[in-house]
Amino acid sequence: MAVTEATVDPEAPYARDGLPALGFRNYWYPILASRKLGKRPHAVTVLGEQIVLFRDGGSLHALEDRCPHRGVRLSAGTCRFPSSGTITCAYHGWTFRGADGTLAAALMEGPNAPVERKVRIQAYPVTERAGLIWIFVGDMNAVPLEDDLPDWIHDQGRFFQLSYVDRYRCNWRALVDNWTNDHHAAFVHGHSPELVFQPHLPFAQTLEPKVLSHGRGMSFLGRDGIRSAEFPGLGKWPRRTWHRFMKPTGRGASRNLLTDKARDVYQVKDPYQTRLPGVVLIGRAHGEYTLVQWAVPIDAETTVLFNINCFRRHGWLRGLYDRAHYLLWRGWAHDVIFSGQDRRILERLVPGEERLSRTDAGMIAWRKFAGANARTPDTKSSRLRAAGD
Ligand code: FES
Ligand SMILES: [Fe+2]
Repeated sequence: MAVTEATVDPEAPYARDGLPALGFRNYWYPILASRKLGKRPHAVTVLGEQIVLFRDGGSLHALEDRCPHRGVRLSAGTCRFPSSGTITCAYHGWTFRGADGTLAAALMEGPNAPVERKVRIQAYPVTERAGLIWIFVGDMNAVPLEDDLPDWIHDQGRFFQLSYVDRYRCNWRALVDNWTNDHHAAFVHGHSPELVFQPHLPFAQTLEPKVLSHGRGMSFLGRDGIRSAEFPGLGKWPRRTWHRFMKPTGRGASRNLLTDKARDVYQVKDPYQTRLPGVVLIGRAHGEYTLVQWAVPIDAETTVLFNINCFRRHGWLRGLYDRAHYLLWRGWAHDVIFSGQDRRILERLVPGEERLSRTDAGMIAWRKFAGANARTPDTKSSRLRAAGD
């Protein structure tokens, strides 16, 4: 059957597990590199909500990006009263307090206009960490940011972060499905610069999805598997392997510099984790580095991927080396090329019913877990905090 608008149900196959098209509300999400927000207000969209960010009076604010008077975007306005923490609409000068969205003045009506007491727009909890602006979009009071950040990010005394941001023309759910060890890696990334000289990744493994003890996500252990095979009537795959002469990368676990307690805290024992609301942690057994990838739903067809590379601090010389290594090699080889290989596929994915197979066991488990465990206004965040990191 030809694929037409009529045959495609964009909610399939996620509706049955309750994964919303616009992302899980009631979580913190990164939305912008801090350095990108200057003196002028900045418009962002996250989880389908249009928001204006601005800095004034030494603090950062996030408000609904629509003036309720006649509907102009507040991001077209300016901070006309420096240090007051307000933003003024470009059309008739209605001026809103960033802290709570109340109306401080309706300039064209003169001082003490009656409307001032009646109007309020939505204000979003917003903060900065690791060089990024984070926003809480939800229907409840914001939880502490630390509740949602892996320790790798919020322990900035011990780790520093370098970020790479990219925009995908696909729904966030497809991007997170891609992080459930569905065996695409051996097929899609085998010739990426990082892996081209290493032994071929195994495929046809037995998958063991596991909910992690901290209750925020899962790991997907692959056992056994093969690295090449003869396919009847077709021949051998992979066809050529002569160039795969290197050992797998990642400095060895023997050079592990973390204490046992720190190994627990930084989840080195489960170096690959997919977490709520749509995050993957890709670590190294030595615990010196991990990559946190955060899928941020913009609208139903757009996702922004934040790649947050976390390095353990070891003095300035090692910090210089890690930065140079990232800039000259890893940022290109992984964040641009490797992730770009995924993007090329995901942007060509047509939503609709699927015919799942054995390699999708992790993805099926993830969807069920996420739908059943995502935070709601009734969830006690302390329950999750007590359970782990
Ligand atoms: S539309 Fe904003 S002040 Fe009139
Ligand atoms: Fe991938």
